[in-house]
Amino acid sequence: MFSSSPSPVNAECHAKLGKWTLNTPVGLSSGWADSIEKMFIAHKLGARFVTSKTITLHPRRGNPRPRIIRGEQFLINSMGLPNPGVKSWIHSLRSSLPTFPWIQSIFGHTTEEYILLIELLEPFVEVFELNFSCPNTEHDLPDIETAITQIRDITSITNKPVFVKLSPSNTPKGNRRIAEKARENIEGLVLINTVPIKHRGLGNPAKQGGVSGSVIFPELLRHLREVRSVFPTYDDLPIIATGGINSPQRAFLVKKQYDSIVSTITGFLQEGPRIFNLLAHGLKQACKKS
Ligand SMILES: Cc1cc2nc3c(=O)[nH]c(=O)nc-3n(C[C@H](O)[C@H](O)[C@H](O)COP(=O)(O)O)c2cc1C
Repeated sequence: MFSSSPSPVNAECHAKLGKWTLNTPVGLSSGWADSIEKMFIAHKLGARFVTSKTITLHPRRGNPRPRIIRGEQFLINSMGLPNPGVKSWIHSLRSSLPTFPWIQSIFGHTTEEYILLIELLEPFVEVFELNFSCPNTEHDLPDIETAITQIRDITSITNKPVFVKLSPSNTPKGNRRIAEKARENIEGLVLINTVPIKHRGLGNPAKQGGVSGSVIFPELLRHLREVRSVFPTYDDLPIIATGGINSPQRAFLVKKQYDSIVSTITGFLQEGPRIFNLLAHGLKQACKKS
């Protein structure tokens, strides 16, 4: 199916992301780009779209170190959303607003905080991502019904497209229910965040972190399968898939079988920027064959 090294294929893979139409939509997932400068760098290095680090109302230092454990097939992180806070973020956006496709990830402790974040950021942002999935904050994730209510309340105050990023801590059926009940209110979903795990090497007292990278790919597929059983195509419900997509074969599968666009952070951290072209190759193959 694949030649050993990526070669150009004559296929175009288009997908809409807010106001943008992406050609071979391979993106950088939230986590690395914690400054506007890094957003530009990620784009220059080959990410066709870039999701910002999750930004919160107030600056956060994150969890005590060590907060990253590296393995061959995985990363465990307990970063705890370190970020400069929305005020400083907006200051940077004012001086250099990206014109390439990008997504603003945000996290609020309450519905009101989310609403405030959206009101402040709306003049600069084309697409929002609500981080309903971080395992590394002091707050538990909302249960499914609470999440649905919160998503409806938050999205009601903006006309900008909103993606919601969901956790593998919810069951696939739970995430499917969120998709069904909130479909009217959202642009699409981001599946999945890291898989919660405890590791004694982590610096936080609870030893709590999240696994990403190759080993969570089967988990990503479980969630894609369930949500796509009710929304079969990207037109029915746009999905940005992230979770162990680290080869052209995996990008091919995610596009072909689950009609989703692909994104990665662990692939980028482990393989470097060549990951974007590798995944683009898989996507193009999938589009060529459809
Ligand atoms: C170091 C690191 C930091 C992360 N920070 C965030 C974050 O700020 N917001 C978020 O929604 N997800 C964050 N994530 C989760 C990723 O965006 C992604 O959902 C997860 O790692 C699975 O994709 P992957 O296997 O391609 O890395 C982070 C992941 C890593 C490894």
